[in-house]
Amino acid sequence: MSDKKLWSGRFNEPTDAFVEAFTASVEFDQRLYRYDIQGSIAHATMLAKSGILTEAERDSIIDGLKRVEQRIDAGEFEWSVELEDVHMNVESALTADIGDNGKKLHTGRSRNDQVATDIRLYMRDEIELIRSEIKRLQEALLEVAEREAGTIMPGFTHLQTAQPITFGHHVMAWFEMLERDRERLADCNKRVNVMPLGAAALAGTTYPIDRHYTAELLGFDRASENSLDSVSDRDFAIEFSAAAALVMMHLSRMSEELIIWSSAQFAFITLSDSFCTGSSIMPQKKNPDVPELVRGKTGRIFGHLVGLLTLMKGQPLAYNKDNQEDKEPLFDTVDNLKGSLKVFADMIPAITCSEQNMREATMEGFATATDLADYLVRKGTPFRDAHEVVGKAVALCVEKECDLSDLTLNELQGFSNAIADDVFDVLTLEGSVAARNHIGGTAPEQVRAAIQRARARLG
Ligand code: ARG
Repeated sequence: MSDKKLWSGRFNEPTDAFVEAFTASVEFDQRLYRYDIQGSIAHATMLAKSGILTEAERDSIIDGLKRVEQRIDAGEFEWSVELEDVHMNVESALTADIGDNGKKLHTGRSRNDQVATDIRLYMRDEIELIRSEIKRLQEALLEVAEREAGTIMPGFTHLQTAQPITFGHHVMAWFEMLERDRERLADCNKRVNVMPLGAAALAGTTYPIDRHYTAELLGFDRASENSLDSVSDRDFAIEFSAAAALVMMHLSRMSEELIIWSSAQFAFITLSDSFCTGSSIMPQKKNPDVPELVRGKTGRIFGHLVGLLTLMKGQPLAYNKDNQEDKEPLFDTVDNLKGSLKVFADMIPAITCSEQNMREATMEGFATATDLADYLVRKGTPFRDAHEVVGKAVALCVEKECDLSDLTLNELQGFSNAIADDVFDVLTLEGSVAARNHIGGTAPEQVRAAIQRARARLG
């Protein structure tokens, strides 16, 4: 027991040793130290401007805080569990360094508004990093989409062959999912970037503080409106967590497709060796570990969202110690989301696809059946009748084990005399995709135009 507790005044007995370790958060909240110090420097600057500290006191506090930061940066700082959390560790190191002036820093604030400020500063930075990592992945997708704008593959519904599409179009669907994720995070940041400092413990403070000034110093959009709400709510963290869960859900869906497509049965794509691992007993194996792990991590990120919602739901105003439990799920969400995005952005450009296997798979499932029906409609056949005609033609193909384009003109005319020899134009895969030529359609021309617009949106 070396470090005297900063709140020990009213206590006659020392904290139970286990309780001390049980209630401490320094082991995980030390990662907030830069934000804690940044907030303290702004707070001290504001206190001096408002005449609550002298300029000399302010300067000695700021110099001392910078020295503490340097020691932590250099790994020369000893964190103390007895001092409970990052806030009290930093403050007591400051006082050890500069003497009694250090004790003046905590004027007009509380750890309750301090911790809320630290998390918001942290999240603001992380949201920016995550958004730029999403953007890097989107750029990788555009690269693949450009390369594969004309590559035919089967499009699925119910995982059954539906209609021919282009691989570029499929990849651009992923791009769109991520574009909404990036937007959502930017929107979330509007509610993150609000300053709680000055709410003090719960009701505000009796000192003549200038919260607008502190908000400006810290680059917050504004000071929060209500002190009780400021120290207690973590909805901004929950909202981030929900946005993170959606990104992971998207990555997980992409993972699922990459895993299926790289199987021997599909063999549509090959993942680069550097993103796969082998099996210790089956020499032939090359496993898609990266997408599998990302799909797996999605579960824990969803779990953190539910954890945070549950953490908040029973709390009366204002601050409760429950909120200390927000950090580990939040940090874990940030770390795993960033890791998953990074590995995807690195892995995606190195995907190669087998044009031939994709084409053969498209040929197998009567993917141009809808094109034949549309052809008959253009020749004046009512759609329902056309549907029936094509159904019969497909049944014949199943019997003969061939594709619609393998039937002879005679055989086709046996089903409908509206069919002429121009029918073979629409039964080709290229003809099929090229015909879906409108915004949002799979025609290579449209995919290329979508890529152009996407680049402009990324800026
Ligand atoms: N470690 C605490 C947290 O993470 C800091 C705030 C503690 N405030 C208090 N009154 N005990 O929430």
